[in-house]
Amino acid sequence: MKALEEKILKEGIVKEGNVLKVDSFLNHQIDVSFLEKMGEEFKELFKDKKITKILTIEASGIGVAVMASRHFGYVPVVFAKKAKTSNISDELYHTRIDSYTHQKTNDVVVSKQYLNQDDHVLIIDDFLANGCAIFGLIDLVQQAGGVVEGVGIVIEKGYQEGGHKIREAGYHLESLAIIESMNDQTSEITFRK
Ligand code: G4P
Ligand code: NA
Ligand code: NA
Repeated sequence: MKALEEKILKEGIVKEGNVLKVDSFLNHQIDVSFLEKMGEEFKELFKDKKITKILTIEASGIGVAVMASRHFGYVPVVFAKKAKTSNISDELYHTRIDSYTHQKTNDVVVSKQYLNQDDHVLIIDDFLANGCAIFGLIDLVQQAGGVVEGVGIVIEKGYQEGGHKIREAGYHLESLAIIESMNDQTSEITFRK
């Protein structure tokens, strides 16, 4: 998505440790009209899929998922919650997600009420790095007996392994922008063509 690449170049800040800050439109302040266009783009990329639900993870995936839903017939958006281990019951699907960026493991849950075997799920998230979050969400859909129809990502860090692993596992993955390289000294960012 050309407009996204341009926005990243204009507003993104490359931080130490290979982290891209996009707080001006995605991770702190939300540019609603821009997210609206991303939602439209996801619909175009997955137009052949019959989607009954969009699944994301709190917090930053929610805005994007909601905007996507508007273009998929307003299907429900379910966001997986980061839970306390002590609160995990039989009424929940539960998985564990390692965060490389934040150096910790999250227990992540979805109520069994909101995902089931009839669901055809589009998974949406803001960033894809090592893929732990996405594989955790895939695991939750599989526990429910549903079908993962696709995975939509706003910004994929192409030099980390997540994108490769998800495509290799046979999932239809679409990223609106794929970063090929980032340099925190020069602030240079290049995109995959
Ligand atoms: P992975 O899930 O692909 O393995 O990635 P990783 O553990 O590295 O990512 C952990 C969290 O950091 C995720 O947010 C992810 O969206 C975010 N993240 C990863 N790389 C970047 C980056 O370069 N820039 C920004 N802004 N975020 C990045 P999360 O834990 O789900 O938290 P939330 O921010 O959505 O609440
Ligand atoms: Na996220
Ligand atoms: Na995030």
